[in-house]
Amino acid sequence: MKDVYFPDIAVIDSIRNETGDVKTFTMRFKDPNIQDDLAYRSGQFFEVSIFGIGEMPISITSTPSRKDFFELGVKNVGLVSGVLHSMTPGSEVGIRGPFGNGFPYEEVLGKELLFVGGGIGLAPLRSLINNVLDNRDNFARITILYGSRTPGDLVFKDEFKIWENQPDVTMLVTVDRGDEEWTGNVGVVTTLFPKAGIKSENTVAFVCGPPVMIPFVIKDLLNLGFTEDTIISTLERHMKCGVGKCGHCCIGHKYVCLDGPVFSYREMKAMTE
Ligand SMILES: Cc1cc2nc3c(=O)[nH]c(=O)nc-3n(C[C@H](O)[C@H](O)[C@H](O)COP(=O)(O)OP(=O)(O)OC[C@H]3O[C@@H](n4cnc5c(N)ncnc54)[C@H](O)[C@@H]3O)c2cc1C
Ligand code: FES
Repeated sequence: MKDVYFPDIAVIDSIRNETGDVKTFTMRFKDPNIQDDLAYRSGQFFEVSIFGIGEMPISITSTPSRKDFFELGVKNVGLVSGVLHSMTPGSEVGIRGPFGNGFPYEEVLGKELLFVGGGIGLAPLRSLINNVLDNRDNFARITILYGSRTPGDLVFKDEFKIWENQPDVTMLVTVDRGDEEWTGNVGVVTTLFPKAGIKSENTVAFVCGPPVMIPFVIKDLLNLGFTEDTIISTLERHMKCGVGKCGHCCIGHKYVCLDGPVFSYREMKAMTE
């Protein structure tokens, strides 16, 4: 059996600057057999290690529907992410995983999907969005609402046009503060709800973003008729092992690394009550 604490080596293939502090790293496992065997669900994460520095959990932002590589969108916030940001194509990192439960996929087949993302929170959602769009016929209408602090903080901009040009997809973007060149929406992401004509019937909402955003989005979704089971979000906790052994990520009786990081709003409420 594979040792869950033993990282496999992955090589950085290319690096794309998303914003001043977010980069997307395209990687492949050095061993082609490991890359060929890679299977994951949107919403799962890897433990990424920089040898001699440390390890950090990062969502897989690529879609399992596209093989031969995987992608990580990483914000430079500290030690490990900072060293990763200084690396160049050809550099090697350690990868453990994929870990966590991932987003429900089979359960939402045939439904309308609403994605609400904020900042780097679009990273896990991007995996599911591209997965769903690669299997477009399996889902009804898709609405993608995304907000960031400023136009310079919008991540994965290159894909916005591709997403909005898909059949029956509504994509709206907003920023908290515009600049001289910004002609789009200004306001928090919930200000997009009336513009998008959201309805709750037969719809599941996926919400990922900064902790400050989540309660406001959930409150508005509940007012629109979404239920505690049709609102799906992710939790971030400090993690160490990633596999339910060390207890660093526990909330109540749940391990965020093992039982999550994806939870319905009903599950989230039960964990904190
Ligand atoms: C399941 C999961 C998925 C994640 N996916 C992504 C992703 O796709 N892209 C991305 O950029 N980041 C993601 N993160 C957050 C990422 O793990 C942290 O930013 C990273 O661990 C920082 O490591 P560091 O050594 O660079 O920073 P450190 O030097 O350890 O810390 C810098 C600052 O960030 C805070 N911090 C560190 N880890 C966390 C955390 N887990 N939650 C909240 N605050 C933290 C520290 O308290 C400190 O203030 C994810 C976290 C989890 C738990
Ligand atoms: S990170 Fe160790 S139990 Fe979750």
